Amino acid sequence: MNLGALSIFNGGKQLLENILQTNMTGLTGPLAFHSDRSPMNPSYDVINIIENGYQQIGYWSNNSGLSVAPPETPSNRSSSDQHLGVVVWPGGTTDKPRGWVFPNNGKELRIGVPNRVSYRHIVSRKDGTDIAEGYCIDIFLAAIKLLPYAVPYKFVLFGDGHENPSYDDLVEKISLGDFDAAVGDIAIVTNRTKIVLWILEHRLNDEFRGPPRKQIGTILWFSFSTMFFSHRENTVSTLGRMVLIIWLFLVLIINSSYTASLTSMLTVQQLSSPITGIDTLISSTEPIGFQVGSFVQNYLIEELNIPKSRLVPLGSPQEYATALKKRIVAAVVDEGPYIELFLSDNCMFSIRGQEFTKSGWGFAFPRGSPLAIGMSTAILTLSENGELQQLHEKWLSRKVCASQTSDDVSDQLQLQSFWGLFLICGIASFIALVIHFGQLFDSTSAFPRR
Ligand code: GLY
Repeated sequence: MNLGALSIFNGGKQLLENILQTNMTGLTGPLAFHSDRSPMNPSYDVINIIENGYQQIGYWSNNSGLSVAPPETPSNRSSSDQHLGVVVWPGGTTDKPRGWVFPNNGKELRIGVPNRVSYRHIVSRKDGTDIAEGYCIDIFLAAIKLLPYAVPYKFVLFGDGHENPSYDDLVEKISLGDFDAAVGDIAIVTNRTKIVLWILEHRLNDEFRGPPRKQIGTILWFSFSTMFFSHRENTVSTLGRMVLIIWLFLVLIINSSYTASLTSMLTVQQLSSPITGIDTLISSTEPIGFQVGSFVQNYLIEELNIPKSRLVPLGSPQEYATALKKRIVAAVVDEGPYIELFLSDNCMFSIRGQEFTKSGWGFAFPRGSPLAIGMSTAILTLSENGELQQLHEKWLSRKVCASQTSDDVSDQLQLQSFWGLFLICGIASFIALVIHFGQLFDSTSAFPRR
């Protein structure tokens, strides 16, 4: 470089003076400056550059701010006036972009989705379409809306539609690069988190109900306290005692029936299955059912050392029920949410023992994926604002199970079974009431009027 050719410019003051004296019409309109050097009536057109040109969508001036009204129009710069015309964004959309787009070399993310054939409400192919739908899909869509950037993606259904796909294979496809992520009821188990994967957890939490407080009046309290012979009120009249003795007889029958029903129920249940939990199941030699495609098969073999020959694959809740009824399996081992859904339709079965793992479900992403962090925060938000619970109720609401099978209902003692006793009690009360009023009438008419 020839540094010697450089010289110092000493006319800066003069240049500034000349600029401040400008008085001309420039590209943006009249151009002049106040003595304090601020521009006179600065105003600009705001244009929206679109594919083949531009369109004016408003103005900006010192007085009016951003506005669709020209700057000459008197304005009080109220917030309601602070808007521009409709903006057309790149891509021809009028939806405001959410900032930068998730970088994936300009390609859509391929998101693997299990094409379930059982418990289809959790996630599956919508009948007659190639669209994925279900509880997990809704969670993903709600979470992705909360991200501050757009994520171009497409769901790719995984599974042949004849049986539930292998979830281990689905997760492995992420590490192989076939999928950029997986959305579904993917159990968070150690061997999956070991293959460079992040699985975001969203536990189901159904514990949302509280008992409503009810007021019980003195009459109801008295009636019910007699059930447990805990009433403290004295009954002094003969008629009252007569009604009470009939009621107590009724209570005695109800109590005895209740005790007998409960005892037989517990005994029958106890006799029907010697399995009291996972330990008795392991130590027995009975066959065990598991859900096709689930991690449970490997878990039973590798973690609980159960011989593979004892395991029976079951493809649907209907197969669970048949296998249990026909004693093809002594028990089915599966994740809590599936079992709860199964039991809500099959009340004759029950959970034995305690849960022995606490794995939740999650969506899977490659390790280090920035999307995983954003989705994790978004799912947390959905959990906190109650949206997760609403989606759970929309897709996975369960029927409340009576304690016994519907086949047994006819053998059970119902309220109707006691209708005769209630009738006798009601008639006795009515007669007592009539006699009481009769006596009252007699005693008042025994006094001569003055
Ligand atoms: N929920 C089935 C599995 O993750 O294996």
